[in-house]
Amino acid sequence: MVAAVAGDVFVRMNVLEVAVFTRRQVLGVLAVGGLFTAVPSVGLAQGSEELVVYSGRKEPLIQPVLERFQKETGVRVVLKSGDASALANQLLEEQKNPQADVFVANDAGVLGRLGNLGVLQPYQSASIEKIPARYRGAGWVGVTGRARVIMYNKSLIKEADLPKSLLDLSDPKYKGKIAAAGTANESMLGQLSEMRQVLGDEKTREFVRSLVANQTTFLKGHTDVRKAVGRGEFPLGIVNHYYYHLQLAEGSPVGVIYPDQGAGQMGTMINVSGVGIVKGAKHTAAAQRFVDFLATAPAQEIFAQANYEFPLLPGVQAQAGVRSLGDFKVTQVPLSALAKEVDGSLKLANGAGMP
Ligand SMILES: [Fe+2]
Repeated sequence: MVAAVAGDVFVRMNVLEVAVFTRRQVLGVLAVGGLFTAVPSVGLAQGSEELVVYSGRKEPLIQPVLERFQKETGVRVVLKSGDASALANQLLEEQKNPQADVFVANDAGVLGRLGNLGVLQPYQSASIEKIPARYRGAGWVGVTGRARVIMYNKSLIKEADLPKSLLDLSDPKYKGKIAAAGTANESMLGQLSEMRQVLGDEKTREFVRSLVANQTTFLKGHTDVRKAVGRGEFPLGIVNHYYYHLQLAEGSPVGVIYPDQGAGQMGTMINVSGVGIVKGAKHTAAAQRFVDFLATAPAQEIFAQANYEFPLLPGVQAQAGVRSLGDFKVTQVPLSALAKEVDGSLKLANGAGMP
């Protein structure tokens, strides 16, 4: 309980603000929180080589891939999973004596920011070059894709009344009808960074102000959003596409909108979960094998099956019932562009009233 409360505070501090804090302050925050919730080793079989994985993905969503990697390579995997921002700050703190070999995170902005801060080391290989370039950046490579969609409760809103663009949510007719995550959520912040790239700061600020003016309810995370929409507390929720599938699988009467598909519209925004090799990693060779492995079809299939995400390796199928990357219009922003935007997006959103 204490850890959870401290975690909240920490997320709001945010890895992306860290550069403006002194090292002492960062350490102070960590010490006060004691919030690095390390999950013990996943208990995989013994091997001569070791790989330490820090993961901002939830344990059930990474463990099957780690087990497969260990089985194929004999490398013993040690997993520490936790909040992505807290782990990112842990990596910064450990920069002079790295404890992790790889970092897995659920947002291109966090990965790019760590790359820019010199926490991640560049790596290129034939394997990761099969992942399209717009899903890679300095020191990191995307592993799975997620679309920013609007999910809705079919019992609360008629087809004809649905928004078609993200910007439609500014319409006063949606007042009190929208649930979303706030700026502590990396995917929401990433979405605002993409919007700023496509539409500019002024329009993005207007959009956030209109969400606030429309009395949008900002919940702690996307699981809260999808459940609230599923239960019928809100007609509309802004989420990643897999939250719609998770809610649908629970039997809720939900539908999904991939926004901004019309001519002249900006397209649906995509973000990625991805991985980077820690600079100074003790097990660099194992880390490189791991990153290569994540870009192979077997690993991409495991990820796609685990959580309805889009495989990024061309030719690998998404789970049945899930759309494929390539069958809808995507915002044309290279995800490497998000790293430098995150501070600004946080300030812009907070300034416009988004918690
Ligand atoms: Fe998520």
